[in-house]
Amino acid sequence: MAVLIAPSLLAADFLHLEKDVRMVNEHADLFHFDVMDGRFVPNISFGFPILEAVASIAARPLDVHLMIRHPQTYIERFCKAGASMLSFHLDATRDDPEPILGMIMAQGVKPGLAINPNIPVEKLFPYLDLCDFVLIMSVYAGFGGQSFIEETYTRVEKTKAEITARGLATRIEVDGGVNAQNAPALIAAGVDILVAGSSVFRAGDPAAAIAAMRG
Ligand code: DX5
Ligand code: ZN
Repeated sequence: MAVLIAPSLLAADFLHLEKDVRMVNEHADLFHFDVMDGRFVPNISFGFPILEAVASIAARPLDVHLMIRHPQTYIERFCKAGASMLSFHLDATRDDPEPILGMIMAQGVKPGLAINPNIPVEKLFPYLDLCDFVLIMSVYAGFGGQSFIEETYTRVEKTKAEITARGLATRIEVDGGVNAQNAPALIAAGVDILVAGSSVFRAGDPAAAIAAMRG
């Protein structure tokens, strides 16, 4: 399967959001939508009204990344607002992630589990069969424009080996500091979905930046 490119709207031009949404419609595969609550992460981004506005003209599926505490409280609303894929962080809740993944699936949305760079990937393994995808952060969640953490390659390889050994179809998504330079090694390590904010929207030619990441 060819890698999917998911531009992160956190880096979009909010004064001309429609232009950026149409660029993603034309050149990329998914919309990555970062929701931050100022509690799980020390930053606040955007929520339902923006998601609904994007969804109204999106020709690509919406991949919603929740960086919020108690994600279960908001899952139904994000699904109804237009998410096709919905991930939350393993350590954002004290509750068992299994029923939360089930809640997402019950809405007809693809469930994903996310982890920050300081959490061993093995913590994802008990849930791999319940996840459509796992989101391995390659920076600490909370801000766009950070530098890629090199340990991500081995974390992806370990996760990919486990998925393959168990004959699962779980996809691997990587998010943070992704660009055309590190994309080939990430794809070789087993990544299925590349999230990229700055390297797409800060590029002079976003369509060319997306094409370069596809290799
Ligand atoms: C970080 C977000 C990322 C971010 C990526 O908390 O989850 O999706 O927008 O931005 P870049 O590609 O600029 O690191
Ligand atoms: Zn994200």
